[in-house]
Formats: sequence, C-alpha cells, structure tokens
Amino acid sequence: MAPIKLAVVGAGPSSFYVASRLLSLLPRSGPHASSLKIHLYDRLWAPYGLVRYGVAPDHPEVKNCTHKFDEAATDPRLRFFGNVNIGTTSPFSYALPLSLEALMPYYTHILYSTGCTVPILHPALPPSEYCIPALSMVHWYTQHPSKPSPPPLDRTSHVTLIGQGNVSLDVARMLLTPPDHLAKYDVPMPVLDILRRSAVQHVSIVGRRGPLQAAFTTKELREMMNLPDSSMVPLDPALLAQVQGASLTRQQSRTLQLLQKGSKNKPGTTAKTWSLDFFRSPTGLTTPVSPSDKARLTLAHTTLDPSSRAVPTGESSTLDTDLVITSLGHRSEPSAPWYDPALGHLRTISGRVVNADGRVMRNAYASGWAAMGARGVLASTMMDAYAVVDTILRDHFPGEDVQTTAASGPESAADKAAEADALEVLPKEVDLDAIPPEVEAGLKEGRVTEFEDWRRVDAEEIRRGEELGKERERMDWEEAHNFLAKTRT
Ligand SMILES: Cc1cc2nc3c(=O)[nH]c(=O)nc-3n(C[C@H](O)[C@H](O)[C@H](O)COP(=O)(O)OP(=O)(O)OC[C@H]3O[C@@H](n4cnc5c(N)ncnc54)[C@H](O)[C@@H]3O)c2cc1C
Ligand SMILES: NC(=O)c1ccc[n+]([C@@H]2O[C@H](COP(=O)([O-])OP(=O)(O)OC[C@H]3O[C@@H](n4cnc5c(N)ncnc54)[C@H](OP(=O)(O)O)[C@@H]3O)[C@@H](O)[C@H]2O)c1
Repeated sequence: MAPIKLAVVGAGPSSFYVASRLLSLLPRSGPHASSLKIHLYDRLWAPYGLVRYGVAPDHPEVKNCTHKFDEAATDPRLRFFGNVNIGTTSPFSYALPLSLEALMPYYTHILYSTGCTVPILHPALPPSEYCIPALSMVHWYTQHPSKPSPPPLDRTSHVTLIGQGNVSLDVARMLLTPPDHLAKYDVPMPVLDILRRSAVQHVSIVGRRGPLQAAFTTKELREMMNLPDSSMVPLDPALLAQVQGASLTRQQSRTLQLLQKGSKNKPGTTAKTWSLDFFRSPTGLTTPVSPSDKARLTLAHTTLDPSSRAVPTGESSTLDTDLVITSLGHRSEPSAPWYDPALGHLRTISGRVVNADGRVMRNAYASGWAAMGARGVLASTMMDAYAVVDTILRDHFPGEDVQTTAASGPESAADKAAEADALEVLPKEVDLDAIPPEVEAGLKEGRVTEFEDWRRVDAEEIRRGEELGKERERMDWEEAHNFLAKTRT
C-alpha cells in the first residue's frame, strides 16, 4: 500500500486530534505498518494553538486535552516543527518563512489546520488607543508571541465589550476576578502585576440582539454570576418578560433563569459591577480631547426582524467609557491558500480542499476552524478532525473497511464525483524521512523547535511555576530560546 506522508500546517488541537486519530487507526504493526509519517508545522514555537494561547487561565481543566496530544507526540511517526510559518506573511521575524511550494514536494498529503487567527473588526470601531480587539487582550494574558501592548488598566475604570460570546465573557472574567484568585493559574507574572494595578470598576457587555440570541453558554454566564467581588446590574424586568412566552431551547431557559436570578452578590454590595446591555449596536466612538476624559460610544437601539436579525429602531444613546474591546469572532488569514472571502475560511467539501473553480485538490485537506470557521469548542473540533481522518482514509484505501466515526456520515455521490475530478498537486512517492532543507537548516540553528524542545520548556515552566506556587510560569520565545541553547546536550 502506498505510504501516507502528511504535512500538517498548524499544530493546534485540530491538528493533534487528526494526528492522534490517524496514528491509532494505522497502528505501527499490522497491514499498514510503517506506511504513515506525520509532520506538524506551526509558526509559533510552542504547540497546541488556542489551547495554550486562547483558553482562559482560570479554566485549567480545558487544557487536559494536551495529555492526548503529548501521547501522540511520543509516537516516532510524528514530528513537530515549531517556528515555521507556511505560505502567508510571517507575523514574527524569528519564524522561518517557508512557501507552500517548497513544502509540498516532500509530502504525499497535506492538511491545513491553521485556525481562524484574525479578529473580525467592527466597521464603526477601527482599532485605536481606545478600541482594541478581544484577541489582543487574550494574546496579552497568554503571552502570545505577537506581544500586544498591555491594556492601560491602571487608568481604565469603565470597559465596554462589544459582542456577547464566550470570548467576551472570558475577557470580562479576567478583568473582574480578584488577581489573588488568578495567581495560582497560568497567568504570567507581568500580567498579574498589571491586573493588580487595574482601576476597572465596571464592564458593560453589549449585544446587538436579545437574551435568547446571546452566543455565550450557560456555564460561562454562571461563572460571571458567581464572581466573588462583583455584581451584575439587574436587567429591566420588562426585557425579560418580553421573552417569557417564547418556546425556548434548554440552553435558552437556563440562560433566562440565570438572568432572572441575577448575580450571587446583590447589586450595591460590591465595588465592581458588570452589565449585559442587550439590543444595542455601536455606530461610532468619539475619542476624548483630554486624556482625563472618557471616550463616547454611540449605540443604535435595535430590535429583531422576523428572521431574528438585529435592525435599528431609530433611537440611539451614548455610553462614556475608557476602553472598548470588540469581541465579534474570528476568520482565517485571507492570504491562506484556498481562502474564500465570502466564508471567512478555507473552501472545503467533506474536509477536502477545493480551489476557486470548485475543483478538489487531491490529497489536500483542511480541518478545525480553518475549515469550519471560528465556531465551536474543543469537543466539536475533535469530532470534525475525526471526520476528516475518515475522509483521508476512505480516499487512501478505497473500498477497504476502514473504521469510521458517526461524525463523517456516508460519502455522497457528489463527494465521489468531486474526488474523481480532483487536481493532482502532491507527489505520489516521496522520501518518508526527508524534510525541506530550509527546515533542516533551521533545526541546526536552533531556530526551528521540535517536540522534545517543547517538553523541556514545558517541564521548566512547570518547575518555575511550582517555585511561585502556581500552575506554571510561561517563557516567551527569547527566554525559551536561551533556555534551550543553554540546556541543549
Ligand atoms: C479566546 C478563545 C478561548 C477559547 N476557550 C475555549 C474553552 O475554554 N473551551 C473550549 O472547548 N474551546 C475554547 N475555544 C475554542 C477552541 O480553542 C477551538 O475550538 C480550537 O482551538 C480550534 O482548533 P484549531 O486547531 O482549528 O485552531 P487553533 O487552535 O487556532 O490552531 C491553529 C494553529 O495554526 C497555526 N498557524 C496559523 N497559520 C499558520 C501558518 N501560516 N503556518 C504555520 N502555522 C500556522 C497557529 O499558530 C495555531 O497554532 C476558545 C477559542 C478562543 C478564540
Ligand atoms: N469557555 C468556552 O467554552 C469558550 C471560550 C471562548 C470561546 N469559545 C468558543 O469559541 C467560539 C468563538 O467565540 P467568540 O466569542 O469569539 O464568537 P461568537 O460565539 O461567534 O460570538 C460573537 C459575538 O459577536 C457578536 N457580533 C458579531 N458581529 C457583530 C457586529 N457586527 N455587531 C455587533 N455584534 C456582533 C455576535 O452577535 P450575533 O449573534 O448577533 O451575531 C456574538 O454575540 C464559540 O464557539 C465559543 O463558544 C468557547
């Protein structure tokens, strides 16, 4: 049987779920023995994508998925190459730039799992000193290699979040949780220092639709309700009464119950407060003349049309605020191959990559947020990855009884036709162990990292954390690079 040598672009959870599934379905001994090699490339020096550089520090249990990823990485058929930026313009000067054309001749198969790394901005709210995307906040508190400037929390008493998804609530929780509660988690010390000096008193979480349309989940809303030192500004009872009679999903009923009950701390009993401001859509931000003044956000009042879309009522109001944080979701990088601007992510059919003319690229696949858009949690990312593995295996072993998951469903006639008409873009035969010479050189220089390097950094971060009484103390690339150079045998 022809081997599968798979290049995976991106080493986030989707990539690792695909890799671990392939490794377990094609065991080292048996009929498909030694026919599989998987090379994961990430432009970040550390693996795991948003699990390391996205998931909120006070949700450590979410990161347990990395145990499965680490186990996959012990398989000698898998290699990880960090600090290699494939195709697009590299945002980090130290990441090795490698074109897709330079990568493809070394692989029989390719998988794009590059996620959705670009925040969606609001047309009325361009980024400025007074308006930043939530992803910059997330990158700040996770010490992402993009190194955004720290938010000016020492002179910020009022924050406005635009968007009512889970990322919005993550950011609100980070701003309102007492820093002493956060100290035991994976919050870098420089971040804790800034949170300790924070002047934030109120966080408004603004949504253009109503309580039944809010994108956050009940668990995250409950965490907001239970914040130790904050209370929610009660909602107008008329707003809640309006939606009472509607036929509700389980999630909507739970959300409504929580909203009716309000926060654990009663209003007026805490110094810090937060609010959910429904049916408001930003139309502009006036920046202050003097730095001691607040910025002024203009909000159009909205209502729902019959399709549950937000439409303006014609009324508006203003909100004085120090910092606006837009949290409107994410899209893939437009310069990624097979990117569809109308979708905001790559064009695929059942995990197979499709070009602008609608033709499938043979043996080229996409998974995770790069293929689905920025929707869903790790569990759905895992199910999607398993379905893509089914497609890869069905394409490679046509007619054979390859174990499949319920997630993939039966292959349709349209899928089969698309595959039959596929464009050949990858070689059928390659040297199974070869890697591009640029990557080989990067490894020798210590610029490109391998999984073993990550294991050593990981152990050191945990050791440093133990000394400080916390989960881990993170290293940035400069520190990790020096640490690896010093300790390399
Ligand atoms: C802030 C935030 C918090 C979240 N918290 C939770 C949570 O608590 N629980 C939960 O279940 N889900 C959470 N999610 C959702 C979860 O993170 C996603 O479902 C999941 O990360 C998607 O995985 P992915 O591998 O597709 O993308 P990503 O995790 O984004 O991984 C993509 C990887 O590709 C790399 N890459 C991109 N471009 C290139 C390139 N050109 N060359 C090389 N590498 C490249 C990136 O560096 C990245 O490592 C959160 C999402 C966000 C945004
Ligand atoms: N703890 C967790 O499990 C966790 C944590 C973080 C993220 N995640 C997951 O990651 C995914 C992405 O989360 P996210 O919060 O980034 O995105 P999201 O869930 O898509 O929420 C985006 C929010 O922005 C609003 N919005 C979008 N465009 C807007 C516009 N032009 N004007 C005003 N509001 C606008 C949306 O409102 P409309 O509905 O009106 O469009 C929605 O409230 C989700 O699936 C989420 O569950 C999970």
